[in-house]
Amino acid sequence: MKRNTTHGIPAEKTGNGGKAALKDLFDKCHKFSRADEAKALGYYPYFRELEENEGPEVTIEGKRLVMAGSNNYLGLSVHPEVKKAAVDAIEKYGSTCSGSRYLNGTLALHHRLEDAIAEFIGVDSCLCFTSGYVTNQGIIPTLVGRHEYLLSDKDNHTSIVAGTLMAKAVGAELIRYKNNDMESLEHSLSKIPLDAGKLIVSDGVFSMSGIVANVPQIASLAKKYNARVLIDEAHGFGVVGATGRGTCELFNLKPQKDVDLLMGTFSKSFASLGGFVGGSAKIIDFIKHNAMSFIFSASMPPANTAAALASLEIIKREPERIARLQEIGDYMRKGFRTLGFEIIESTTPIIPVLVRDDFLTCTFWRRLFEEGVYTNTVVSPAVPPGMQLIRTSYIATTKQAQLDFILEKFEKAGKELGLIS
Ligand SMILES: Cc1ncc(COP(=O)(O)O)c(C=O)c1O
Repeated sequence: MKRNTTHGIPAEKTGNGGKAALKDLFDKCHKFSRADEAKALGYYPYFRELEENEGPEVTIEGKRLVMAGSNNYLGLSVHPEVKKAAVDAIEKYGSTCSGSRYLNGTLALHHRLEDAIAEFIGVDSCLCFTSGYVTNQGIIPTLVGRHEYLLSDKDNHTSIVAGTLMAKAVGAELIRYKNNDMESLEHSLSKIPLDAGKLIVSDGVFSMSGIVANVPQIASLAKKYNARVLIDEAHGFGVVGATGRGTCELFNLKPQKDVDLLMGTFSKSFASLGGFVGGSAKIIDFIKHNAMSFIFSASMPPANTAAALASLEIIKREPERIARLQEIGDYMRKGFRTLGFEIIESTTPIIPVLVRDDFLTCTFWRRLFEEGVYTNTVVSPAVPPGMQLIRTSYIATTKQAQLDFILEKFEKAGKELGLIS
């Protein structure tokens, strides 16, 4: 006898059956209470409204705070040249391009920025996307598909994860190797047919830990096993290397030769919004004509494009900002160590202070906030249990007195909470 079904679902499980309790898609949203609970306890650290942002100092909810948790690494978001370039671009082109680069959203400014970035990072060609996130999300599945292999570091940024999952959906084989563990990477590579197409993807600087990836070893394994390499320099460009040209400069590697593709964002050192990928002309041209998140999304707005260009000019002209940023990172690392805090031993201006407990991390964050220091809480599931931390990151224009203020307040709150003695 034929069963009564709707779209293959037995009648008793559908509205017309009326017996089984119906599940609503939104049940999980109505049940979600974690954020409200944290708010009720006064420990909710997210979505704080900035009323003023001068870079190293901000006003949040009427309170002046020293900023120890920004990605505005070189302090250029308030630089007069950057602000003027953004305003001038709005005057000339209006507030938006209203469309995709492909059809009606390409300005001469976009081409100028792409040429300037390509020259700065040492590659033939560069393509700008609307954010760093959509850059990774777009380029990875464009390059890696059916019967091809993707080797991705387990600690890569979520935008890389998004790209890898899309590549997997179109048939790529996805292998995640242990964080910055070259044995794990080689082990994975050795299991894949040598003649198959492969892409190794890694953050150049891991965004949570501030640790620099072993890019020389990645490049050498890629040569040995016939793989291509994509390094995400979101926290590398403008930060790492004597002139801010990222991990290739730091390790004396040749962009495009040792590392095939370099990806970056304009949202951090470049004090704007947007993303980019650079490499040899044929590869970038392929991405330009095939990456969905490039083709089907509106282009970088005029103000952002001009701001990024102006920031780049300053970065090239004033490498002392990068030297100062590196000096600040070293000073703060030493300061935290001397106070007795457990930190992740990065070599960049991202310095995570380990707390290792969700509630204690939120309490520490709140005490620091009350004392006038703004930081970022990183609790599970963003990090594995036991790795909860306060992520601090620094701005090249922060004054010595402000750095000492941060350390003084860490000492005070840290002692109160028993994190240091
Ligand atoms: C390593 C890394 N890649 C990509 C991105 C995405 O950049 P965007 O802010 O431009 O979307 C980020 C942002 O936090 C990042 O840390």
